Amino acid sequence: MKKILVLLLVTFLFQNSRSQNGRMIIPSELSNDLISRMQEMGSKLTADAIYSPDKTSLNDAVIQFNGGCTGEIVSPDGLILTNHHCGYSAIQSHSTFEHNYVKDGFWSQSLAEELPNPGMYVTFVRKIENITDKVMEGIDDTMDETQKKSMIQKNINRLEKTLPKKDWQEIQIKSFYDGNSYYAFTIENYKDIRLVAAPPSSIGKFGADTDNWMWPRHTGDFSVFRIYAGKNNRPAEYSPDNVPYHTDSYFKISIKPKKAGDFFLIYGFPGRTQEYLPAVAVQQKVEVINPARIKTRKTVLDIMKSYMSKNDTIKLQYTAKYARIANYWKKWIGENQGIKRTGVIEKKKDFEKYFISQAQAKKMDPDYLRIFNLFENLYKENRDIELARNYFIEIFYLNNDLLKRALLLYNLKQTYEKQGKESFAELQKKYAGRLTGSFKNYNTTVDKDIFKALMKLYAAYMPAAYKNTSFNPDNIDDIAENIYQNSVLNNPDELKKLLHKGPKKFIKILDNDPGYLFAEKFIKDYYQKIAPDYQNIRSKINNLQKKYMKGIQQVFDNRPLYPDANGTLRITYGVIKGYEPHDAVYYFPISHVKGIIEKYIPGDYEFDIPKKLIDLYKNKDYKPYSNSGEMPVDFLGTAHTTGGNSGSPAINKEGELIGINFDRVWEGTMSDLYYDQKICRNIMVDINYVLFVIDKIGNDKRLIKEMSITK
Ligand code: ARG
Ligand code: GLU
Repeated sequence: MKKILVLLLVTFLFQNSRSQNGRMIIPSELSNDLISRMQEMGSKLTADAIYSPDKTSLNDAVIQFNGGCTGEIVSPDGLILTNHHCGYSAIQSHSTFEHNYVKDGFWSQSLAEELPNPGMYVTFVRKIENITDKVMEGIDDTMDETQKKSMIQKNINRLEKTLPKKDWQEIQIKSFYDGNSYYAFTIENYKDIRLVAAPPSSIGKFGADTDNWMWPRHTGDFSVFRIYAGKNNRPAEYSPDNVPYHTDSYFKISIKPKKAGDFFLIYGFPGRTQEYLPAVAVQQKVEVINPARIKTRKTVLDIMKSYMSKNDTIKLQYTAKYARIANYWKKWIGENQGIKRTGVIEKKKDFEKYFISQAQAKKMDPDYLRIFNLFENLYKENRDIELARNYFIEIFYLNNDLLKRALLLYNLKQTYEKQGKESFAELQKKYAGRLTGSFKNYNTTVDKDIFKALMKLYAAYMPAAYKNTSFNPDNIDDIAENIYQNSVLNNPDELKKLLHKGPKKFIKILDNDPGYLFAEKFIKDYYQKIAPDYQNIRSKINNLQKKYMKGIQQVFDNRPLYPDANGTLRITYGVIKGYEPHDAVYYFPISHVKGIIEKYIPGDYEFDIPKKLIDLYKNKDYKPYSNSGEMPVDFLGTAHTTGGNSGSPAINKEGELIGINFDRVWEGTMSDLYYDQKICRNIMVDINYVLFVIDKIGNDKRLIKEMSITK
């Protein structure tokens, strides 16, 4: 039994395993082996069609959307599809009381009606090249890790400037396999991106937080943008004179019905996975870090919810904040359950025994025989530091507006003290909008309650070595009253004035402000103790992880493994498939509009729907997007995706677009640490549903005509 488990783990880490998927593949490394495995599953795609540095290929139709999501081009005029939740802040920023695009949707009827979004950009990847040798130039074994690191950084800085590229391109170098390999990416950033269309939230966010990370799912999570370019089709800053970006590389769309077993491929920018951690690291995450973060966020969410359910204004103000905080709160709960249910820690421990036996058999560096003891010690040493860091970030940065303002003001003060007047003025300008804007969706009473609860949590759980004991948590009510009444941190007008002051006056005001003074001691603890200790232990852990990763590669005779996600362009493929979330339960892989009607709750903020959708359902008015009398909405597959893959194209065996990735199932969110084919599934919105909504809810025939759709 043990042997089988080890073998399973072993094969799961390999690219040429017999599993029904391939994961996190670097497009330029598509081997013949992988292509033929994909072909066995029905694919007709060649390596060249998927990625080619000098010919038009699918990589030219996939973009990183605004740094964090993925999108795909669906017309020769630069039309982009991505998720509704990826376009959300843009949609929100154009919304007013009279034109509420978040609530009602937005359907532009001409180029002139498309809305610019300052600061938004998309990134093409034109070329990917393994440049490990160049990055490692000058490194030799007499150097210690610190010397190696600085040499590597020097090389990277030089190569990013000197590798050949066109004027409008950039070179970005990224580390793979925990620093054992380096790849250069030739990229192009287009900076004039306009909002073209968005469904009403009751479709784009249907099910909201209750359905988030869940199956069965019925969300129409898409929005539509367009890339604009200068007259020469090159990247250009926003200008009313810019024109739609023109390209030969765009996805044709297939609306043929889908079924379980169909091959598909996801092309996109997964953010971060950590599949090669030792057991002890996963154990720390599951037993120490995740519970701390879950507990902190639960405290915050409960307070928000109690106010939101009583007060409609607060509900409106806090919906987006609540969704952001709840997203990873829920993810971590699922991750912990999945790790326990599938016995990941035991599997990893078994693998580690196998690793040691292989290290002996292959006569690898004898250091490998004690590597797990070293990990054990480092993670012991790391525990309180990691915990302290997480509590600090959750409490002072992510979950309370007042404390976050204090943190930004602290940065400003530091900038003046360390870098002088000009840097201060620059940052002041940069922060001004953020700081004053933070009062828009803000309620003093809610924030104050959260503040009190978080500071109590701090007093109870911050590890002793990092805890600041200069305040008495029993007095937190009085402390909070004083701060929220008298501090500039809770006073938008005073804060605005402060942001126009010169550095001397600015600092003088802060140094007499009760809120700022209260927060500053904790922030100083962070920068003076927690962060340096963290950097120190982290670099030791990273060095050891790099060594371990190299060892794993040796154990597998340097056959290709799946490199952890690092925000770079990747391919993952699989089949449309359901799963068994629990004993005796089977989830089918395709959901339908009738399921929306089943979930429909009139007036509810998560489950209300447009009347038009109900009428379309009653009349079975689905043609040509479905001829069967059932309209598909979302579907599941076995591709290995993570945060950042939102908006990724789901592509069929012919290279046509069939859906847009937007989520994973709850039971399988542990796939960031360990991918298990049995319960890990990605969730996509069916392109047929997307087109149905554009056509019949938005009545936006212009867009339907612009795309090329095969029936
Ligand atoms: N869980 C999806 C992804 O991480 C969707 C998140 C947006 N939706 C929401 N209800 N918060 O990130
Ligand atoms: N919703 C996620 C995102 O925004 C993708 C889902 C996932 O984490 O798999 O990137």
